[in-house]
Amino acid sequence: MAWLSAIGLMSGTSYDGVDVALINTNGEEVGRLGPTLYRPYSEDERALLRHAMTAAANLADRAERPGLLADAETLVTQSHAEAVEAFLAANGMAASDIGVVGFHGQTVLHDPGRRLTVQLGDGKALARRLGIPVVYDFRAADVAAGGQGAPFVPVFHRAMVRLLDERGPVAVLNIGGVANLTFIDGEAALVACDVGPGNALIDDFMRLRTGSPHDGEGRAAAAGRVDEAAVAHILAHPFFDKPPPKSLDRNAFHHWVAADEKLAGRSLEDGAATLTALTAAGIARSMRLLPRPPASFIVAGGGIRNPVLMRMLAERVAPARVMTADAVGWAADSLEAQGFAYLAVRSFNGLPLSFPTTTGVPEPMRGGVLARP
Ligand SMILES: Nc1ncnc2c1ncn2[C@@H]1O[C@H](COP(=O)(O)OP(=O)(O)O)[C@@H](O)[C@H]1O
Ligand SMILES: [Mg+2]
Repeated sequence: MAWLSAIGLMSGTSYDGVDVALINTNGEEVGRLGPTLYRPYSEDERALLRHAMTAAANLADRAERPGLLADAETLVTQSHAEAVEAFLAANGMAASDIGVVGFHGQTVLHDPGRRLTVQLGDGKALARRLGIPVVYDFRAADVAAGGQGAPFVPVFHRAMVRLLDERGPVAVLNIGGVANLTFIDGEAALVACDVGPGNALIDDFMRLRTGSPHDGEGRAAAAGRVDEAAVAHILAHPFFDKPPPKSLDRNAFHHWVAADEKLAGRSLEDGAATLTALTAAGIARSMRLLPRPPASFIVAGGGIRNPVLMRMLAERVAPARVMTADAVGWAADSLEAQGFAYLAVRSFNGLPLSFPTTTGVPEPMRGGVLARP
C-alpha cells in the first residue's frame, strides 16, 4: 500500500469553518501527524450555509443545485481552496508535496432513509485549482447501497487508538454538530454510530436567543438550572434506544429548540443548561447500546471547548474516564479532518471506507470519487 502525504478537509454540520490537517498514511497505519489550520466562516458565509440547509431539505436528486445551493457550493469550494492555499503557504509547502486531498464538503442533507446524502463542494474544480488529486463524495456510495452514510471516521479512530496503550475498551467521541462515537475493544469488531445531538441544539438556541453562534465556554449553561424532567422527556425519543448502526440529521431535533413548549418559555441560562445536559445525557445513554461499558472516553470536536458540557458528560458516564483528544496527544480540533485525509488515502488505495458494523452497509464498501487536476 502506497504511503502518501494527505490533506483532509472537513466542514462539519456546525458550519463554523473549514478544518485542514496533514497526515502521512498508507490508509491502514497512521504515520506522522502534520500541521493543521482552521479557516472560520464569516457571519455572511454561515448565513448562506444555514439557508442552504433549509433549501436542501426537499432535494430529490443529490446532483441538483437549485436556487442558492449553487452559490453555497461555490462558497464551499472556494473557501476550501483558500484554506489549502493558506495551509501550504504557512508551512512552506508546494502542491507537489501533497499526494491527495480528502474533501468532505458541506453536508446540507442527510436522509439515508431516502438513500440520499448531499455534500456541497465541487471536487473537480478543487483539484484543478490546487493542482492536487482530490477525493470527494465519500458518503454517497454507502448511502446508495443502503448504509447510514455515517459515521465514516471509525476506521481512522481505530488506527489512532492502536498507537496508544489504553487498557480496556475505548470510546472515541466526536462532539461536532452531531455527536458520534466509535467503540474500540481490541481487535473485536468496531461498533460506531451517531449517538445524539452534539453542539447543534445549543448553537441553534444561542443563535435564536442572542445572535451568537455558540455558548462560549458554556457560560450561559453554567449560570442555569437543568430541568431533568425536560431532559428525560426528550430522551424518550426512540432514536436514543435504537441499536447501532444509526445516523442523525443535524436538524432532526431542531424543533425542540424553537417550538417545544418545554424550552421555549425558559430563561437563556436554564435553556442552555438543559440543552447542554441533554447533549451529555444523550451521549451517556448510548453506553447501553455498546457490547460493554467503555473504560475511557477520548473526546474530540468543538464540544471540548464547552467545560460545562465536558463536566456533565464526565458525571453521566462515570466511572468511565473522560479525556480530551489533546490530552492523549491527538489534535481534538482536527481529528475529523485527519480522518478524511486517512479516508482519502484508503479510497486512493482501493480499501473499504465503511463497514456493516459502522454504517450498516451490507458489505465493506469502497467509496469516494477521485478527481485528477
Ligand atoms: N469556545 C467555545 N465555547 C463553546 N463551544 C464552542 C467553542 N468553540 C467551539 N465550540 C463549539 O464547537 C462547534 C464546532 O465544533 P466542530 O467540531 O467544528 O463541529 P463540526 O464538525 O460540526 O463543524 C461550534 O459550533 C460550537 O458549538
Ligand atoms: Mg467545524
